[in-house]
Amino acid sequence: MCGIVGYVGGQEAWPIIYEGLRRLEYRGYDSAGIAVVDPYGDIQLRKTVGKVSGLESTGEHPDGSVGLGHTRWATHGRPSHENAHPHTDCEQRIAVVHNGIVENYLELKRRLIDAGHEFGSETDTEVLTHLVEEGIDRGLSFQEAFRRMGRMVKGSQAISAIMQGDAAEICALRLGHAGGIVVAQSEGQAIIGSDLPALLPLLQTDSNIGQVAFLETGEMVVVTRDKVEYQDLEGNHIDKQPRMVSQEEILVDKAGYQHFMLKEIMEQPQAVASAMRERVNFETRRVDLLDFPLSPQEIAGLDRVMLIGCGTSLNAAQVGRHLVERYSGLPAEAESASEFRYRDPYIGPGTLVVSIGQSGETADTVAGMQMVKDKGGKLITICNSEGSQASRIADGTLYMRAGIEIGVASTKTFVASLTILNLLAIFLGQSRGVLDTAKRQELVDGLAQAPRLLGDLVANDGVYQYLAQEYAQFDNFLFLGRGMNAPIATEGALKLKEISYIHAEGYPAGEMKHGPIALIDNAMATVALAPKDFLYDKVVNNVKEVKARDGRVLAVLTEGDSQLSADVDHALYIPEAPEHLIPLLITVPLQMLAYHIALLRDRDVDQPRNLAKSVTVE
Ligand code: G6P
Repeated sequence: MCGIVGYVGGQEAWPIIYEGLRRLEYRGYDSAGIAVVDPYGDIQLRKTVGKVSGLESTGEHPDGSVGLGHTRWATHGRPSHENAHPHTDCEQRIAVVHNGIVENYLELKRRLIDAGHEFGSETDTEVLTHLVEEGIDRGLSFQEAFRRMGRMVKGSQAISAIMQGDAAEICALRLGHAGGIVVAQSEGQAIIGSDLPALLPLLQTDSNIGQVAFLETGEMVVVTRDKVEYQDLEGNHIDKQPRMVSQEEILVDKAGYQHFMLKEIMEQPQAVASAMRERVNFETRRVDLLDFPLSPQEIAGLDRVMLIGCGTSLNAAQVGRHLVERYSGLPAEAESASEFRYRDPYIGPGTLVVSIGQSGETADTVAGMQMVKDKGGKLITICNSEGSQASRIADGTLYMRAGIEIGVASTKTFVASLTILNLLAIFLGQSRGVLDTAKRQELVDGLAQAPRLLGDLVANDGVYQYLAQEYAQFDNFLFLGRGMNAPIATEGALKLKEISYIHAEGYPAGEMKHGPIALIDNAMATVALAPKDFLYDKVVNNVKEVKARDGRVLAVLTEGDSQLSADVDHALYIPEAPEHLIPLLITVPLQMLAYHIALLRDRDVDQPRNLAKSVTVE
């Protein structure tokens, strides 16, 4: 959560920081601020409530070639001018930006107030500023005071600060898993950021900025125009080798689409193809996960699979549970990482835990993974971000390879996760000898069709637009599905609520009669997922129950369905496909419906209120 950008060099800092913040808005956009050290050595501060673009109207931007910026996702203290970062000390000598939570801030704040410090915000961050100030007042250098502050705070976070004067120095540190810091230096300039997109504004003019280093927990960096120095919190030097990151990792734009979300929905056929690349041999019709870290003996010894994730990734985990059960012969469970991390689950020698996450940085998922690691369990992650926490903790990573996803509501990384979960289930079944050859070949042949079928679905824009007009005025939605499609119903409801702010619930269709049926009337829209699979007849019965109570029904059916199409108000169609592809295919109309309804309601599709792309706080 929260985005940080810092710049020091020979150019004006403001435009570089401003552009970097705009690229980091997926991390939060409750408020934004930039602090620049002006040519007289004074800190100039500009803040705005809401999005980064609001900084444009804070007056003429200050000159100066060293500065720090922040875009906030509020944790402690509501979104307001006072609570916006950067935070400064009483005399505005130091400016601090922060991502994460200072767990002992109350205790520190009380002590600082007793010592005479005055606080102007409700944030935990402000204690950091006063702690640095305290160090400086005790005669420490800026670096020493910053390091001392780092040793005093508890919790998981990234912190950065600048100081008035002519030192032209940025300090940054990382504690725990919640906040990453990337550092890039080139001739006569350097930039730090919470994530790679922060580097974009400089990369366009200086390709050497592609050489980056990532701070590990407990590490600090002091950045000046000509030098980057890594230290631990005791001040001991650390050797760190930057690595080259590709332009593709950093470079993203909307490619002519109105929103990133639409672009990313359209990219789903490629995302699925890319997830299968070099992992599926369509000639031998086998799945070979070369990046799978377990030996054949370890795979043979597995007796259980647990899948964890949050949000959309939790929905993927729930689908994965069905796939693993069905094709690998192993018992499988799926659970929210935020619940899992506080249980004391049995993790035996035969347990494989699979975490799923677009970012690989979600705090609950990372904490759940750490618990598995501490218990000595076998752990893999399905993740889209190279170098993420998740990929560092896991024994092995199955990368989604979906390309960077900017829209806050996940789309292409969801279908990429489902693809990899299919591969994992088939691979485990194949390796354990429980999947007969004919079935394996049928499953692989089905996967080969996925990019084409998804391509046909994303092209149906006119249908989705028309249906969005029919349903945009409803304030309540029930999404129903069964089996593998029950989690897809939950995902459809999640997409709609995330970006349109309409109340929507995803329910296993068989559970509808145990409560939700009381809600059915002509003001409740039901989206029924009724593809032709072995549960089709059961869903038909559920739809009839809704229609008998005057509910409005939009059904997602298999092309050629003449049985149910006559009974429902509207129908959307997916092509006929094998059961393991159906969850991927049904996802597309649900995403598109949510997208067009959100547009009709004039919502901010790519940056819906209160959300953030990666939730690195608990
Ligand atoms: C946030 C996002 C969701 C996402 C969830 C998990 O809540 O708004 O769209 O599904 O985090 O993110 P992850 O990176 O772990 O998949």
